[in-house]
Amino acid sequence: MQEPLFRINPDRNVPWNDLPDLPIHEDLYRTVAIMEQLGNAKSALGRLHGRSVAIPNQGILINSISLQEAKASSEIENIFTTDDELYQAYSEKGEDETVKGAPKEVLRYREALWEGHQHLKNHGDFNEEYFIRLYQTIKQTNDGIRPTSALIYIKQGGTGPNAGTAIYTPPRGKGIVEEKLKNLADFVNDDQLYPIDPLIKMAIAHYQFEMIHPFRDGNGRAGRIFNINILTQKGLLDLPILYLSRYIIDNKSDYYSLLAGVTQRARWESWILFMLKAIEATANLTFNKINDILAAEAAILQTIEAETKIRKPENLMQMIFTQPLTKVSHLTDVKLYAEATARNYLNELCDLGILEKKTISGHHYYLNLELYRILSE
Ligand SMILES: Nc1ncnc2c1ncn2[C@@H]1O[C@H](COP(=O)(O)OP(=O)(O)OP(=O)(O)O)[C@@H](O)[C@H]1O
Ligand SMILES: [Mg+2]
Repeated sequence: MQEPLFRINPDRNVPWNDLPDLPIHEDLYRTVAIMEQLGNAKSALGRLHGRSVAIPNQGILINSISLQEAKASSEIENIFTTDDELYQAYSEKGEDETVKGAPKEVLRYREALWEGHQHLKNHGDFNEEYFIRLYQTIKQTNDGIRPTSALIYIKQGGTGPNAGTAIYTPPRGKGIVEEKLKNLADFVNDDQLYPIDPLIKMAIAHYQFEMIHPFRDGNGRAGRIFNINILTQKGLLDLPILYLSRYIIDNKSDYYSLLAGVTQRARWESWILFMLKAIEATANLTFNKINDILAAEAAILQTIEAETKIRKPENLMQMIFTQPLTKVSHLTDVKLYAEATARNYLNELCDLGILEKKTISGHHYYLNLELYRILSE
């Protein structure tokens, strides 16, 4: 009999130690449908990249948009927070004792994303330590790869008759997870040995990471950060601004069943198409969001210049667009204005209907109404 292109998992209840190493056979992804969709995804991503490098203040994008990514990704794991709670937590940098629970956990996701980005800047390549750092930051723990004694498996969700039964059991045994992670990192790092389009690489790598399932928990979130970090490491974006979690959560059951489709039926094409569509749709959405934010910033700047005597209005714009909730101390900490001036200016923006004063757990904030609206759309 002819050798299959991809050896599927024979038993969902048994650790899949024969999870095939990468790369996968190229006939599995060299299809007309994938090449077409790859073109769409690449041009959407290229347009976003072009737009993002032309933005003077990149901090605006990264702060505001990555908060939304952290929120969406954490929702997949049933960690829910409201925008208000999250923005407050962020304004306090998570240090205030009133910040706990879900918003704190969401901020940790965001922190892990930056840590991953920084790790790659410092080390250049993906390695075992990279993955462990993500996990440790997401879960706030000191342990690492799951021990062989941990009986981890992916359960059927919901309340149906099969709820709680195994859908998949990841590899288990001495050194096996480490070996598979090494193979995965090599596959992503080495573009000479594995000259595959980076977006297709990302889709394959995400699947592989989820199947290795190296940690006790947080594998979904670590895998979603891995996606983002691949895009910047491969130079498709300068900064981590393409966040796929919203798309994944909106198509959660497809996401799960397409991963299972590869494992159980070798259906690589549908999985890769899903990820390429996610990239295209998200790049377009982010492109529009960036334009909306920049247009709002320009319009408000114009109003301020025309109707007030506020000094250094451009710097003030930068501050109130970096996050939705601004505090007086944000302006004084960077020595933009003296405290009384900062307060007067923020109040002036309230009178103009640009900001709205809010008191949350005894702290005073100024909400940027337009930014808040754009981010929550
Ligand atoms: N058939 C499947 N059904 C559900 N999840 C699957 C399946 N196959 C693989 N997975 C992966 O397992 C992840 C969940 O693993 P884990 O609980 O360790 O991660 P998490 O970050 O805590 O969860 P979540 O992804 O829900 O936020 C999913 O996000 C998905 O990527
Ligand atoms: Mg979990």
